[in-house]
Amino acid sequence: MASFHAALRGTGLGIPSKVLTNEDLAKFVDTNDEWIRTRTGIRERRLLDREKGESLSLLGAQAAQEALDKAGIKAEELDAVICCTATPDTWMPISASRILGHLRGRVAVDVFTADLNAACSGYLAGLHVANNFIRSGLHKKVLVVGGDIFSSIIDWTDRTTCILFGDGVGASVLEAVEEADASTAPVILGARFGTLADFDHFLAVEGGGSAAPFTSAEFESRKKRPVISMNGQEVFKLACKHMAQKAHEVLADSGYTTRDVRWFVPHQANLRIIEMVARMAEMPMDRVYVNVDRWGNTSAGTVAVALAEMQRGGMLKKGDLVLLDVFGGGFTYGAMLLRWGTDAT
Ligand code: UT7
Repeated sequence: MASFHAALRGTGLGIPSKVLTNEDLAKFVDTNDEWIRTRTGIRERRLLDREKGESLSLLGAQAAQEALDKAGIKAEELDAVICCTATPDTWMPISASRILGHLRGRVAVDVFTADLNAACSGYLAGLHVANNFIRSGLHKKVLVVGGDIFSSIIDWTDRTTCILFGDGVGASVLEAVEEADASTAPVILGARFGTLADFDHFLAVEGGGSAAPFTSAEFESRKKRPVISMNGQEVFKLACKHMAQKAHEVLADSGYTTRDVRWFVPHQANLRIIEMVARMAEMPMDRVYVNVDRWGNTSAGTVAVALAEMQRGGMLKKGDLVLLDVFGGGFTYGAMLLRWGTDAT
């Protein structure tokens, strides 16, 4: 019986149209450009424009179409769609189904769709699920959309969080390749994940879930607002430690070292975290992709957006080893190693 590996065939970007600079933020919250740049590396972030009809699913569909075009695959060929997000358009219908609807119209088809929430680790978790769908022979062509609209869950009066996040969506198309091709094919080579359970006091969005529903008196009295609260310093330390550890583990599993890695693409939460993880993972900064300055932290979007920008920019060459590394609410974290397979931009 044939066995399969998952090849990443194409990527795409969904770019929200509004730009919010540090100077813009300083007009309504007690902060300044210098503090934000030196503490986080962020200069500006993108925000969704609802008046223009933008939504997570619409941006996801735009990103998906670009990824499909690059992959040379039609939307009709997809047999699974996973949307990785903590900020879906609506609780129902799910965003993966909405994305498929944007791509194909109102249809009834044999396509697996599901949303997956692993907070900022979502996109890598989605790639992991897609990889295992493909390896098990269940699915052949899988769309993974990673993105968040954190502007919808930010307390714009809280300067410790509102400066950090932005909206953004990326998409990737994965396709099954037969085992015989795996030595040279652009495949996912390995992944390692972890969880720190019961750390919800460090990073949380309380309210709006079933523990404090929108319909409850507790919610209405605003004791549990559906906005992000965070202990930044604790998250910083945990992110550095666990991202570096998973990067080492996934390389060791697959028999490679950091010297073999052409691009390290870490979660983009804070330039200081990226630099610290790179140092701990022994990865020189000239091989680390950074876009947090232009996007802020787009949560499940960070690595998906980074890969799409890198492909657009022709930075990824056939055969390059690319190491992805994430950390997010939960806490969830993980690293994945893949071999890039196309020079196409
Ligand atoms: O995807 C995972 C999600 N989250 C993260 O990855 C975030 C991880 N944490 C971080 O990135 C950093 O901890 C922050 C950027 C959130 C904060 O940086 P920090 O260097 O840990 O600053 P701090 O919290 O120690 O605050 C230093 C000072 C404080 O003032 P005092 O007490 O020293 O007088 C803050 O009140 O900076 C003040 N401060 C600000 N000042 C201007 C906090 N936020 C701001 C601000 N503008 N936006």
